[in-house]
Parts: sequence; C-alpha cells; structure tokens
Amino acid sequence: MYLTHEEELMLNGEYGEAVAKALKLIVRVGEALGAERLVKIVHAHASGISYDNIGDPGLSFIRDLYLAGGRVSVYSTYNPIGIEIWDQRVLPVTRHFIEKQMEIIRSLEGMGFDRSVTCVPYKLRPPRLGEHLAWGESSAVAVANSLYGARTNREGGPIALAAALTGRIYYWGLHLDENRRPGIYIKLAAGNGALGEPDAGVLGYIVGENYGGQIPYIDAVVEVPRGVQALCAAAAAAGSTAMCIIRGVSPEDQGPPPNPLDRLTLTASDIRAKKRDIATATLDEAQAFFTGCPHHDPSLPMRLLDYLRRHGIRRLSRPVWVAVPGYAATNLRGVADELRKRGIHILPGTCIVVSRLRGIIKTIATDSVKTAFYLPRRHGVDVALSSLEEFVKRYAVR
Ligand code: F3S
Repeated sequence: MYLTHEEELMLNGEYGEAVAKALKLIVRVGEALGAERLVKIVHAHASGISYDNIGDPGLSFIRDLYLAGGRVSVYSTYNPIGIEIWDQRVLPVTRHFIEKQMEIIRSLEGMGFDRSVTCVPYKLRPPRLGEHLAWGESSAVAVANSLYGARTNREGGPIALAAALTGRIYYWGLHLDENRRPGIYIKLAAGNGALGEPDAGVLGYIVGENYGGQIPYIDAVVEVPRGVQALCAAAAAAGSTAMCIIRGVSPEDQGPPPNPLDRLTLTASDIRAKKRDIATATLDEAQAFFTGCPHHDPSLPMRLLDYLRRHGIRRLSRPVWVAVPGYAATNLRGVADELRKRGIHILPGTCIVVSRLRGIIKTIATDSVKTAFYLPRRHGVDVALSSLEEFVKRYAVR
C-alpha cells in the first residue's frame, strides 16, 4: 500500500505507540481488502462499546490504547452503551456491569471522544456531501451515505477507534465513486403519503433481506429524516446494506439505474404482509413499547408529553421507553419525573438492544424494525410492530 511520508512516520512510531498500533491495524486490513492507499477522514464514530457486546477483551483493547497515550486526531464520537447514563432504574444491570462500562467510557473520553453516547452522530455534526468518515454503527453508516452523501464503509469497533487516533482509513469500498452507483431498482407503488415508522423500516427490511450488500435505488416516498433513518437501520440489520439511493432524498440521486441487475415492485399490501411476518406477537400481548432505534431527537419526549396533555391523557397503563442520545440527558432531567408518572421512561445513551433485558420483559411492542429484528435473536423477547401513536391510543388512561 502506498503511504505518505507522514503515514510512514506514524507507522514507525514517531507519533507514539498508540498511533503506530492503530495505523498498523488499518494498513493490515486495508491491504487484505486490496486498498491502494489511505484517505484522511473528518469524523470517526466508534460502535461496539457496550460492555454487553465486547466484554473484557474489548475493554482491554480500548483501555490499552488509552494507556499507550492514544488521543483522537479528528472529531470522534461513540455509540450507545449498555447502561442509562443518568441512573439505572429501568434496565437490569449489575454494579459489576456498570463499573466495567464506565471504565470503557473513561478510556474513550480520556482519548478525546466527545460524550455523544448515541447512534445518530449525524445530529451532532451533519456530514457534508463527499466527506470521508470512518463510522461504526450500521444504521448511521447507511444514513451518512444515503441521506448526506458522505462516504463511509461499515467499520468494526476496533477499526473506527484506530481511525479516530490516526485520522485515516483505507481508500476502498464506498469511499470510491465507482462503488456508489445503484444496481437494483425497487419501486413502491404510491400509497397514502410518505412512509414513516414502522412502514419505512419494513421496506428497509425487504431491501436488506433481498439485496444485502448491494446499493438499491428506492423509488418511494419516504419521510425525512425519521423514515429514512428507519429504512436505513432495518436494511443494515437485515442485510448489511450500507447505502441506498432514495428518490428525491439522496444527494447522489441521478435517477433510476438504466440497466438494473434486478427490479422489485412492491405495493402497500406487500408492506403489510411483511410487517405481519416480522412480528412475533400482537399489540395486546405487549407489556411495554420501545421507541428510539435509531435514537430519537431529544425533542420527542417533550412532544409526547405535549400530546398527552392536549388529549387529556393522565398516564399510560403500559410503559413506553424512549431511547435518546446520552448528550441530551441533562436537558431532559427536568421533565423526566413528570414523564415517569405518566408511564414514559427515558433511556439516555442506551437502548434495549445493546443493554440487558433478560428477565424483565417477555413481549414488547416497537415502531423500530431494527429492534424487531434483534430482540428475538439477542434477548429472546417477542415483538409486536406498531406505531407509537397506536400504542398510546390503546393504553391511554384519562
Ligand atoms: Fe441505536 Fe440501539 Fe438501535 S444503538 S440503532 S437504538 S439498536
């Protein structure tokens, strides 16, 4: 692989042990992939940092880089963790788990990572068209490529961390123009307005399931940004989709591919049928509702509260859990008590996929198809799919 003079110096330890170790990792993987050079990035986002996912080996890897003097060289953020960052009232984690998780956080922040604690890093720093990034978190990767026209592959946790320290990633895959063109054409017959949650997620699931790893052109009306986030998250979960071109939304939209490798035409009834397929439970069976996968804007809990007040709803008879970015936790403290009394619990900096859930719930409803994909597989929990509005109406107490 061709390296610049500065990169040679990094590799030879002139910038310290941690940078050398990190660049070695990137070069080794880049060479295995066939990359000819590296590219500078403007933002690294590390996923795979929940103690539930990475355990002690992952903790050691991160802590060792920190203790070796590793410091970020570009703007760097990190994903949700396995605990709520202001207390541990809702999700069942042990003192041991909290201590381990906090050690990971101390190492990341010691290296200069921003206290983001979210899977929507594009809300903190919206990427610009054509910018190179090194992001973990599959849903954020797909949003960066599809909604912002920025360039990132789906990087694993260690690689994103190494990219944060070096400011480099291999120039390969979606960083190259020629790999960003759609090859599949998917058409959804016009229905009743723009697709939001959960229907956009169901469309994403179909995309991922049928065309995983490819770039589809999606000819459908999708709500921006929430529908796009839901679609990207589900497609990435079901089939490692890292980029879509969405008609009228993606900045790189140049119209449908002239000679697609495949075509798929869907109708609203296909979406309804797949929704039934994905669900493993009904709304009546759900003990709670989870929303915020990907994380919601911090304004969502406020809007929900406003909705309850305007409709004279005192509380919900079954709880709603709302995952929001960790960076927003402080601002939401003021309303947390009132929300809790009404049956709404904020989960700042975490979500029920990356935290522990076993034993506290058997069946949950959600508007996130990504959550519906992972919960039965990771936590053995059954899932109903519905909109938040439907759930609130069903369980409103006046
Ligand atoms: Fe984010 Fe957790 Fe979903 S990390 S995308 S809320 S699985």
